[in-house]
Amino acid sequence: MKIGVYPGTFDPITNGHIDIVRRSFQIFDKVIIAVAPNPKKKPLFDIHERVEMIREATRNIPNVEIEIFEGLLAEYMKRKGVHAIVRGLRAISDFEHEFMMALLNRKLDGGVETVFLMPSEEYSYLTSSAIKEVASYGGVVKDLVPPMVAQHLRERFQKGPK
Ligand code: PNS
Repeated sequence: MKIGVYPGTFDPITNGHIDIVRRSFQIFDKVIIAVAPNPKKKPLFDIHERVEMIREATRNIPNVEIEIFEGLLAEYMKRKGVHAIVRGLRAISDFEHEFMMALLNRKLDGGVETVFLMPSEEYSYLTSSAIKEVASYGGVVKDLVPPMVAQHLRERFQKGPK
């Protein structure tokens, strides 16, 4: 069975992330969505909220597993015995950082390769940060994230922008 690990912060999961998960199945039989707590990014949602939103958003996609991973991605890959990392590549601006991460992960775990997938054009501009910003000012994000994520964002920002 071919397995891919799709790591990220997913704060929160967007329609762009879901598009990448679906596309991954062109290559892999099973996809593990590996959620990093990433406290340095000061996430809006705690790790369990993020996992719950991912679970809900992917519940109709078979062969998806969701796990939390702490520490280095390369160490997690070794522990799992999985050799492929999936990352979405939206624009040239993503490339430099993604290139660095792919090579660093390969340096740390010689057996691991990163596979880049391009999201559908309609999601190519989407980032979790931009969505949080729009939602923080009461903007409409319903076409950009799953309904329950939009609901969580509304609740989170009801008290006004952060
Ligand atoms: O969704 P993101 O924020 O772009 O995901 C980034 C993530 C979680 C994949 C990256 O920060 C990561 O792999 N973190 C774990 C720590 C690690 O392995 N760092 C070395 C690679 S830069």
